[in-house]
Amino acid sequence: MTSYLSGFGNEHATEAVAGALPEGRNSPQRVPYGLYAEQLSGTAFTAPRRENRRSWLYRLRPSANHPAFRLAEQGLLHSGPFAEGAVSPNRLRWNPQPSPSKPTDFVDGLVTFAGNGGPTAGTGISIHLYAANRSMVDSVFFNADGELLLVPQKGALELFTELGKLHLPPGEIAVVPRGVRFRVELAEGDAAGYVCENHGASFRLPELGPIGSNGLANPRDFLTPVAAFEDVERPTRVRQKFNGRLWETTVDHSPLDVVAWHGNLAPYKYDLARFNTIGTVSFDHPDPSIFTVLTSPTDTPGTANCDFVIFPPRWMVAEETFRPPWFHRNVMSEFMGLIHGIYDAKEGGGFAPGGASLHNCMSAHGPDRHSYDQAVEARLAPHKIENTLAFMFESRSVIAPTAFAMESPTLQPDYDECWVGFEKARLPGAK
Ligand SMILES: [Fe+2]
Repeated sequence: MTSYLSGFGNEHATEAVAGALPEGRNSPQRVPYGLYAEQLSGTAFTAPRRENRRSWLYRLRPSANHPAFRLAEQGLLHSGPFAEGAVSPNRLRWNPQPSPSKPTDFVDGLVTFAGNGGPTAGTGISIHLYAANRSMVDSVFFNADGELLLVPQKGALELFTELGKLHLPPGEIAVVPRGVRFRVELAEGDAAGYVCENHGASFRLPELGPIGSNGLANPRDFLTPVAAFEDVERPTRVRQKFNGRLWETTVDHSPLDVVAWHGNLAPYKYDLARFNTIGTVSFDHPDPSIFTVLTSPTDTPGTANCDFVIFPPRWMVAEETFRPPWFHRNVMSEFMGLIHGIYDAKEGGGFAPGGASLHNCMSAHGPDRHSYDQAVEARLAPHKIENTLAFMFESRSVIAPTAFAMESPTLQPDYDECWVGFEKARLPGAK
């Protein structure tokens, strides 16, 4: 049973061997057992205290002990620039990606679908899908270009990170900070899911405003691993993504050798079933910002680099109200995925678990014809939407699909037909 530490952004202190964690000093002259002290910073040194993230790692060998990295085969993974010709303003939707036919681990199986900004801009997001059929063996990965928000859709993952182990089944999410080395093992066969690579300000909990001091995702439900390490002296492949390209080298030991650590920069996970969903108890329904789990802010208040938003099971009680998501044209751009079930604006089918949709800035969308007809005829008794979990990566900047995504046979050619066949409204006296 994996142990966890509780709380979002908290200072934690943990040791896998008693006495390994120095007391009173971050970098004493002699670290216990001859371990090496290393600071991992996630923000500029002088970032304001509430933003500041760093941890101290005590390890068997310094991370600096590695040969030069060389360019590796890139595959379909990248992060910007995303201007691959004209960006389509059309509404786009994809069927789930096929399972890999050859041996594919998590890193091999990352495919970049869309994004904006990039690692050099220090803003924006890259959106990847992954599909894997084998664990990483004698291999670790880290991303220098941003933190990684992992959203499993199929198959539980075991993340063995430098700072400890996270068990991650579908329905939970994890964030691995920039630079943290980790290995992904498949806990139950094939795995697939979504990744939001955040090049901007790190994810944090949204402000609660008039909601008050409780609600949405509660800080104590975010779990960080206790220290865990392996003492393995075998050649280990180290891959990193740096400035959009994949690089690799080989070291003669496992870099997952952090025996103790303390600080507030660490991987964490969160069970989306813990989300305290808030909605109307009278009429209409609030904007979907009410479903924000995590947000990456920009310098413009309330205007996110990325919001991670979920549509979980919930009661619908609004009176005299069109209950599904309404028709809308938003300034923010929306990339959606489905973990399981049916999304309540697309009851007509076509948005499958593992699939994706993209509604960019000012693209008109909303309920499909079937969902609309059902909703306007529904008897408005209290009703629970169950067995569903959709999510959205929402960004202030246009989310450009990659050439791969636009040329993929999974791109649905007929998505616009969701909104065909709505009868004209009938004004009094009109023919
Ligand atoms: Fe939308």
